[in-house]
Amino acid sequence: MAGFSPEWLALREPADTRARNPQVLASCARAFAGHDSLVICDMGAGTGASVRALADLLPQRQDWILVDHDHRNLAGAVTALTAWADGGDRQIIHRGERRIGLRTLHQDFAADPAPWPADTGLVTASALLDLPSHAWIDAFVAKLAARRLPALITLTVDGVMAAEPVQELDRPVFESFRRHQRGDKGFGPSAGAEAAPYLERALKNAGYTLECGDSPWIIDGASPALMQELLKGIAGAARETGFMAADEWLKDRLETTTRLTIGHRDVFASL
Ligand SMILES: C[S@@+](CC[C@H](N)C(=O)[O-])C[C@H]1O[C@@H](n2cnc3c(N)ncnc32)[C@H](O)[C@@H]1O
Repeated sequence: MAGFSPEWLALREPADTRARNPQVLASCARAFAGHDSLVICDMGAGTGASVRALADLLPQRQDWILVDHDHRNLAGAVTALTAWADGGDRQIIHRGERRIGLRTLHQDFAADPAPWPADTGLVTASALLDLPSHAWIDAFVAKLAARRLPALITLTVDGVMAAEPVQELDRPVFESFRRHQRGDKGFGPSAGAEAAPYLERALKNAGYTLECGDSPWIIDGASPALMQELLKGIAGAARETGFMAADEWLKDRLETTTRLTIGHRDVFASL
C-alpha cells in the first residue's frame, strides 16, 4: 500500500482508534465542555479519521475544516463521513446528537504551516507531526501560540519499536527504519522519531500547558493485514537505507511475529 492512500488509512484506523490516549482526549473534551459550538481545523485530515474519533468528545455543533494536500483523501473523507453519519448531505452531517459541518481545504503544509481559518477554536492533527522538519514544528508552534489556539496532536511516532518473539536482526532493521523516517517527507529533513519530544518541548517553551501520554500501536494476531503491511513497510524502508538483510528479516517476521509495538505520543496543549 503506497503512501497515505485511502486503503492504508482505512486499514490503520481501528488501531489508531484503540491507541489514542484516553487521558489526553478527556483533557481536550474538558476544555470545551459547556461550549455550544466549535470550529476545528484538522491538519492532514486524510479520510476524516479525526472527525470519527473526536466528534463525541466535542460540542454538539461542530464545524470541521479538513486540510490535506491530497485531493483523493479529501474527497474520500467527505464520502466516508457521509456514510458514517446518521443523516445529512456532503456539507452538514448528523451523528447522534452532533451536527457536524464539513469543509475541505486543499493545502500543502510545506507552504503554510498555519492554514487555519480565522474562526478556528481548536487545531487537530493525527499521525502527521512526525513527517515535518524541526524548523516546521517551530513555525507551527509559533503560529499556534500567536493565535493562542489550543491543539490536540495525536499519534506522533516516538521511536519505540519492538517485535515478539525477539530476533537478532530487529535492532539493525529498526535502526535503519528510524534513519529512513528522518528523510525528507516534503518539509525538509523529517524530525521522525524525535518529533514527539521536540513538539512537546516547543509547546512548553511557548507557554502551553500540556496533557501528554503514550498512544502505542500494539498489533497482534487479531490484525493480520495491518501486521503484514507494517512489517513489509518497515523492511522496505530498511532496504532503501541499504540494509539488505531486511528481506531475510521480513521472511522470518511474516511467519513468526506474534506482537508488534510501534510507539506514539498524544498531546493536548492549551494556553
Ligand atoms: C498518516 S496520514 C494521517 C491521516 C489522518 N489524519 C488519520 O489519522 O487517518 C497523513 C496525512 O497528511 C497528509 N499530508 C502529508 N504531507 C502533507 C503536506 N505537506 N501538506 C498537506 N497534507 C499532507 C497526507 O496526504 C495524509 O492524508
